[in-house]
Amino acid sequence: MSTDAIVLLKADHKDIKAAFKQFQQVGDRAFTAKGKLVEKIIELLTVHTYIENEVMYPEVRSLLPDLEDEILESYEEHHVADLLAVELAALPPDAERFSAKTTVLIENVTRHIEEEEEGWFPKVREKLGRKQLSEIGERLLEVKEKAPHSPAQPSAIKKSIDAVLR
Ligand SMILES: [Fe+2]
Ligand SMILES: [Fe+2]
Repeated sequence: MSTDAIVLLKADHKDIKAAFKQFQQVGDRAFTAKGKLVEKIIELLTVHTYIENEVMYPEVRSLLPDLEDEILESYEEHHVADLLAVELAALPPDAERFSAKTTVLIENVTRHIEEEEEGWFPKVREKLGRKQLSEIGERLLEVKEKAPHSPAQPSAIKKSIDAVLR
């Protein structure tokens, strides 16, 4: 299996987008299914933003200073997604704002993923060698092992704050 950082992150994106699609296709009043899907979405996003915040973003920021603005913007986008995820995790699926909030989360993250995949990942691919990308990928996999799975876990909250303040 490839440990190329961009290949790994894109595989996560694919899983995230598949869960988004499932949510969009489920019936409006299928509250149990909606609740389960949102739990899954939150878990996938919590792990993914954690490994990007911990490994990919700081690595790219230090190796490719030209991408500083893109990285700072990406941290902020993660932060907005984290806030929505924390709020959603506390809402019952039949709450009036549950679907609206999920839809806004999906729209935001979909745009964020597009900016990564079409905006700055290609620049990273162009500038870093295959060996460097696979070393970063190995670290992504290591950090994934101990990543929080819920935004309420203290490590998730602390990391998202650190990521913005650092
Ligand atoms: Fe991201
Ligand atoms: Fe990502």
